[in-house]
Amino acid sequence: DWTMAHFRTDAIARIRAQVGSGRVICGLSGGVDSSVAAVLIHEAIGDQLTCIFVDHGLMRKGEAKEVVSLFRGHYNIPLVHVDAADTFIDALEGESDPEVKRKTIGRLFIEVFEAEATKLGGADFLAQGTLYPDVIESVSFTGGPSVTIKSHHNVGGLPERMKMKLVEPLRELFKDEVRALGRELGLPDAFVGRHPFPGPGLAIRCPGGVTRDKLKILREADAIYLDEIRKAGLYDAIWQAFSVLLPVQTVGVMGDGRTYEYVLALRAVTSVDGMTADFYHFDMEFLGRAATRIINEVKGVNRVVYDVTSKPPGTIEWE
Ligand code: XMP
Repeated sequence: DWTMAHFRTDAIARIRAQVGSGRVICGLSGGVDSSVAAVLIHEAIGDQLTCIFVDHGLMRKGEAKEVVSLFRGHYNIPLVHVDAADTFIDALEGESDPEVKRKTIGRLFIEVFEAEATKLGGADFLAQGTLYPDVIESVSFTGGPSVTIKSHHNVGGLPERMKMKLVEPLRELFKDEVRALGRELGLPDAFVGRHPFPGPGLAIRCPGGVTRDKLKILREADAIYLDEIRKAGLYDAIWQAFSVLLPVQTVGVMGDGRTYEYVLALRAVTSVDGMTADFYHFDMEFLGRAATRIINEVKGVNRVVYDVTSKPPGTIEWE
């Protein structure tokens, strides 16, 4: 891609000019944006960059490992992997208010990140994968001047009190351009093309209290759902697809026994920018297939429903 090859060269020159011989820390979320930013910055300044991946234990199945092996193995980028799952999940246990959950995750993320940055001896710059829509997002995600629909958490939420200058090489780019840049930098197609994933992760896909057991069920079920979507060749036609584990148990029958297990909701939407969305019109065969597999293969789920709400009036995530 000529445009992105050009952007890459320019961006590298700009990063070098800004950073000089300074040290840079980059917060990795496991998502596409921060990963592309990190790879680009590493290309510009090599081991002056250290990445910190705060693993909150709320990622999808296999995702955390994938990020670590991509960075350490493939790119050889210095990476601190902080396994903070216990910290996050213990703090969330028993909490069911969506905003409190979001704020708890945001606060812990900052605490853990700062502690790790301090252990590294600090840095002169903090790198972030901020995109152009993120720059204007604070406006777009509010319903009016004072109505917050959801307080967003992502690695871009680090406070000014860290007293580092920001390096944000993706600030002018839209999502599809970041994907093109990622491909240009050699990131695997499957990684670059991944659906957006929210900073608070699976915690906001477990309405009500989050527990390790629920996360495990959700992770397994969601992996099957996404597997079926990929097999059906639908992954790229969908903006975002995911499962929500409802805090409701219902009666079912399996073999000749009664079951009393959770309900899983499946969601898939098409969207251009996440601001508005339409539910994805699967054919019923597909939904039936996914539901059967999930119920047969995941202990803890005995009923599957499909969310046919668009945005507005729904939001994409349930919390
Ligand atoms: P909603 O649910 O508000 O989501 O319709 C719109 C898009 O934003 C994602 N999302 C988040 N992304 N931190 C993020 O980085 C967050 O806290 C967050 N909450 C929602 C959501 O997955 C969808 O793509």
